[in-house]
Amino acid sequence: MSVIYGERVRLRAAERNDVNRFCVWVNDPEVTRYLSLYLPMSTVDEENWFDSMTKRDQSEKTLVVEVRDGDVWKMIGNCGVFGIDPVNRLGELGIMLGEKDEWNKGYGTETMTLLLRHCFGTLNLNRAFLQVYAENIRAKRSYEKAGFVEEGCLREAVYRHGKYDDVIIMSVLRSEWVAQKKEK
Ligand SMILES: CC(C)(COP(=O)(O)OP(=O)(O)OC[C@H]1O[C@@H](n2cnc3c(N)ncnc32)[C@H](O)[C@@H]1OP(=O)(O)O)[C@@H](O)C(=O)NCCC(=O)NCCS
Repeated sequence: MSVIYGERVRLRAAERNDVNRFCVWVNDPEVTRYLSLYLPMSTVDEENWFDSMTKRDQSEKTLVVEVRDGDVWKMIGNCGVFGIDPVNRLGELGIMLGEKDEWNKGYGTETMTLLLRHCFGTLNLNRAFLQVYAENIRAKRSYEKAGFVEEGCLREAVYRHGKYDDVIIMSVLRSEWVAQKKEK
């Protein structure tokens, strides 16, 4: 897989030496507030995850999100497409921007826009979907901006911070992505 370039963001394959930074992110309660990763993770846990990830199909490998920082690229998060169903042509998207100073700058929206281009233009999927906790307003807004529509709600499907929260399912169909591209 070659590097995927957008206007301000690029997505590259994750390397073993990225794991230390990933480990910092997945132990930051603000970053993981709305993630299914919520228990303390050691470097060994993270290295084991990396090893299992390297055995996945090439199209399901974690991608590192980078933005320009002067003359170099700076790593701010990771993302990917998972659980690709080759018959029904669908896949689930995920994103974590671990560098909190980079939140609310539109990088999440651009990353998801790039991932959608990757899903439909490269992987030839028909449906890209994701799950987001109802309380994760920033993520939901960002996904809407990237073209995702809310299609359903799993009521009280997750227990976090002492209470249940709904999980929202959002998706983009290939036909919608094509129509959105024509509008732009
Ligand atoms: C969720 C995440 C991917 C979003 O990326 P981002 O780059 O921060 O988001 P963007 O800047 O693209 O868009 C955020 C939007 O939400 C809005 N927003 C942020 N906080 C908000 C709030 N409390 N209420 C309403 N809108 C809010 C922003 O104003 C912006 O919308 P606008 O451009 O219309 O003003 C990123 O913040 C992240 O990875 N967070 C930690 C992990 C996580 O939650 N991952 C998602 C799991 S489903």
